[in-house]
Amino acid sequence: MKYADSFNPALGMHHSILNGLAGMAALIFALATGAAETSVGITVDTGHPGHAVSPLLHGVFFEDINYGADGGLYAELVQNRSFEHQEHLYAWGTVNRGGQGTVTVESADPLNPRNPHYVRLNVADVGSGFGIANYGFGGIAVKTGENYFFSVWARGEAGNSMKLRADLEDDTGRLLGECATTGLSTQWQQFEGVIKSSGPATHARLVVLATAPGRIDLDMVSLFPENTWKHRRNGMRADLVKMLADLHPAFMRFPGGCIVEGKDLPNRYQWKDTIGDVAGRPENWNRWQDAMGDATAPQYYQTCGLGFFEFFQLCEDIGAEPVPVLNCGMACQYESKQLVPLDRLGPLVQDALDLIEFANGPVTSPWGARRAAMGHPEPFKLKMVGVGNEQWGEQYFERYMVFQAALKAKHPEIRIVTGAGPGVDDGFWKLAWEKFRSGTPADIVDEHYYRPPQWFLENATRYDSQVRSGPKVFAGEFAAHDGPKRPSTLRAAVAEAAFLTGLVRNSDLVVMSSYAPLFAKAGASQWAPDLIWFDNTRVFGTPSYYVQALYSCNRPDVILPISVNGPQVILPPLPAASVATYGAPPQPQFCSGPLPALFVAGGLDRRAGEVVLFVVNPYAVPRDATVTLSGGATQGAIPGRAIVLTSATPDDVNSFEAPATVIPREETFTTAGTEVVRSFPACSFTVLRLRTSQ
Ligand code: AHR
Repeated sequence: MKYADSFNPALGMHHSILNGLAGMAALIFALATGAAETSVGITVDTGHPGHAVSPLLHGVFFEDINYGADGGLYAELVQNRSFEHQEHLYAWGTVNRGGQGTVTVESADPLNPRNPHYVRLNVADVGSGFGIANYGFGGIAVKTGENYFFSVWARGEAGNSMKLRADLEDDTGRLLGECATTGLSTQWQQFEGVIKSSGPATHARLVVLATAPGRIDLDMVSLFPENTWKHRRNGMRADLVKMLADLHPAFMRFPGGCIVEGKDLPNRYQWKDTIGDVAGRPENWNRWQDAMGDATAPQYYQTCGLGFFEFFQLCEDIGAEPVPVLNCGMACQYESKQLVPLDRLGPLVQDALDLIEFANGPVTSPWGARRAAMGHPEPFKLKMVGVGNEQWGEQYFERYMVFQAALKAKHPEIRIVTGAGPGVDDGFWKLAWEKFRSGTPADIVDEHYYRPPQWFLENATRYDSQVRSGPKVFAGEFAAHDGPKRPSTLRAAVAEAAFLTGLVRNSDLVVMSSYAPLFAKAGASQWAPDLIWFDNTRVFGTPSYYVQALYSCNRPDVILPISVNGPQVILPPLPAASVATYGAPPQPQFCSGPLPALFVAGGLDRRAGEVVLFVVNPYAVPRDATVTLSGGATQGAIPGRAIVLTSATPDDVNSFEAPATVIPREETFTTAGTEVVRSFPACSFTVLRLRTSQ
């Protein structure tokens, strides 16, 4: 029997990402080589603290893209466990050990009508086993001595004493562990067993065998590691959750992104389909089957085993405020553009109200009771919901207003995140802000930027002079796209770090931000760049991941006024095509003019008694600088720490083989005098933590 790797082979992209070179962005750094030797003066006024830094400033945005959920964060090892993929036996093969029988896909009298398909084994002669094998998501990875929970729903036929066995085998067919089941009846029943793996394997398979002749129906065939995050059943991959936890995200936006919208309305994400018994959660096809320009993934589905309960629980685990996003009656405006008529929005609005009850309602309420039944009687403390993803235009605003009115009437305590379209500075975005400034109520407006590194440098000041009255801003999706192949370079990360100086400085207005997308599975991605890459056994953070971590873990409480004196840098204008938004009326782009000698923001961490400075040198030469703390926070020599993210070249990336090429490196120092004199390396991001004497 052929031991096929049945995972969608959208291969090759990751390596090309890592090897790609960004012509345009390389130019940025090559041009900016002037004034290498001139010293820069940074003055921090510790005597006049400004506004508080938003406690929600740095969060994460999770979407099931790039196999982020099934095959990724969700620890299920069996792919297509309920046989609902369009190719019903995708990731499955037949196993026949000298017997005779058939394997068919049936749907009559199913385990669950919402997932109607199941497999029927009709075994005439069992030989030494007849059944099916699952190859996981590009193989099942197991570790020596660890336990794996097998479970299956099965049904036999009257008059036969059917028996089942589950074997875990490596790619040579060697048995790693097994468990057996008896007592099948003519009714669907769930059988569970534990398989301890005797050896390691990266491409193991799960073999489910009939060991007596007759007819057996099988559904929801599942294998989970015991060692999930917090050892939860139906849990998540511990190593991937740890990567999130290490970011200390203040919030998590979920579950999308475009999958909230769906390619068409039936494909939209519906939270009620993602809670309760996993066998009853209807499988949905993933909108990212149809990648935008990259490899397609026709067998990419959402089991929703990682559903809204699990999302809320994850948020709680990692101390992140949940920010669920709801469909507002619109499918993707790039795709089908389907709309729910305004007079039929009622059920969707009710879904939104019910979600708030599911998260926060008392256990005596219908949806609070559902939460309690899933094991969480305490509320999840939901404070915010998103209405729509990156929707735009009048059709959005009229639908948004229906939700807004209903949500505010019943839950004035819940803040609403409102879309502003897929870009900034374009016609969609402009219309949105005109509305929000002229009577359309909004709490927080979600802006998205996928732009070249230079755009991030030029836009670090975009909020400096923005009107403060009106809604707050959520930089809900951003990433520097470094050239056509968009590798996650140091250059891109440093540009994002420069942009984030502007968000810290303006965090009275820009109260939240999150990079996108979050996860990508090597060989199965539809979108780059991404913050975290993984395969079935390994994970690494991109340079952008470390930028996020450094900002999040060093967030000051209050801002301090900072001036930077030094030679400014002028870059040639970006080509218009690199900042265009699909379909949006073009508008003049924001451009800050000359760039500063160094990008700097910072404030006070009062609990630690430290001044925190974020200093970004995106240029091709080191910058010498003198940091002066005015305002009396220090009297003599200053003990400090510098955490520096840089590398040999701006093109450097991290990879599975070299995950630490671009990681933060920390040093401690004590200044000789009352100033900090440092050289900030070319293409670097530095966090300075300076102890005050107060
Ligand atoms: O992050 C990838 C996609 O970018 C999101 O799904 C969508 O909101 C945006 O277009």
